Amino acid sequence: MAASLSYFSGVSLSATEKPSIPSLSTSHNRRACFSNSSRNKYKHHDCASLSSRWKPPCTARAIKIVAAAKKEPLKVMIAGAPASGKGTQCELIKNKFGLVHISAGDLLRAEIATGSENGKKAKEFMEKGMLVPDEIVVMMVKDRLMKPDVEQNGWLLDGYPRSLSQAMALENLGIRPDIFILLEVSDELLVERVVGRRLDPVTGKIYHLKYSPPENEEIASRLTQRFDDTEEKVKLRLKTHYQNVESVIAIYESVMFKVNGDVSKEEVFAEIDKGISSILENNRTLDSASMAAGVAQ
Ligand code: AP5
Repeated sequence: MAASLSYFSGVSLSATEKPSIPSLSTSHNRRACFSNSSRNKYKHHDCASLSSRWKPPCTARAIKIVAAAKKEPLKVMIAGAPASGKGTQCELIKNKFGLVHISAGDLLRAEIATGSENGKKAKEFMEKGMLVPDEIVVMMVKDRLMKPDVEQNGWLLDGYPRSLSQAMALENLGIRPDIFILLEVSDELLVERVVGRRLDPVTGKIYHLKYSPPENEEIASRLTQRFDDTEEKVKLRLKTHYQNVESVIAIYESVMFKVNGDVSKEEVFAEIDKGISSILENNRTLDSASMAAGVAQ
């Protein structure tokens, strides 16, 4: 399996996004500012000559250092042609890394289910295999990204952005991924995957009649098919994908991680796991280095 290694440049990019260690320009022992116990030590031994007024600035610095050391939650984007396996991999990524999965397609289908005007309009575009207009989809995704669970656990953005204008909407908000996973699957396989895909409306699990058949008869009897999962519609969706994908790739090239999606879902996930784990490992190293730098200053 050939997974591009260009994500390593992404590591340096995310490093530049990390909060910098605040500069501590006083002559205080910075180690003393780091924890309560060491602060007490500082108070008793190193600060004997300082007046009691030293405490507020020292506390402020301690807060700054802790803020610098606080780990930022992981931000992952996954892209690929229709039925390339984004949803399938998101389930595995979510289970392993605990990120909040945000699927633009799922948000749109939920809107359609409410019967709202936006939902009706979205469905017209989805039936034609076209992108739903930005005025509907951009706000929807932005609102979801602002929810507290996302801030707390990090995000896994699936099927968004799909155009330059959507990518720019995120850029303008300063929202960038640590890694942009691109699933590469040959067109013949995509059509087969779409036509055989089924969904369990009870658990939300994605099946494939050939590649991931339902576990038992009870599940098999309740499986549904998406309204846009026909051979005719997937060809339109593919056309839309190829018209837009290059402009999105151009924005995220430095954090791009290409994965061969033609193989089994377990093999695909093994590659993705390696990519995400590398990012986490690098972030941990950078955090430790930042902490050490903060302590040494
Ligand atoms: P969306 O729902 O996102 O559809 P999509 O991008 O076409 O992708 P799919 O959900 O079809 O496939 P997937 O890649 O998740 O594959 P899956 O894991 O299910 O979007 C639908 C529509 O909404 C768009 O056409 C557009 O109109 C609109 N829309 C969405 N986002 C938008 C946006 N940002 N802006 C504007 N409009 C937007 O797998 C597929 C099948 O293959 C399954 O049966 C699975 O079991 C099987 N499978 C998966 N991996 C493997 C494997 N490795 N080997 C064998 N089988 C596998």
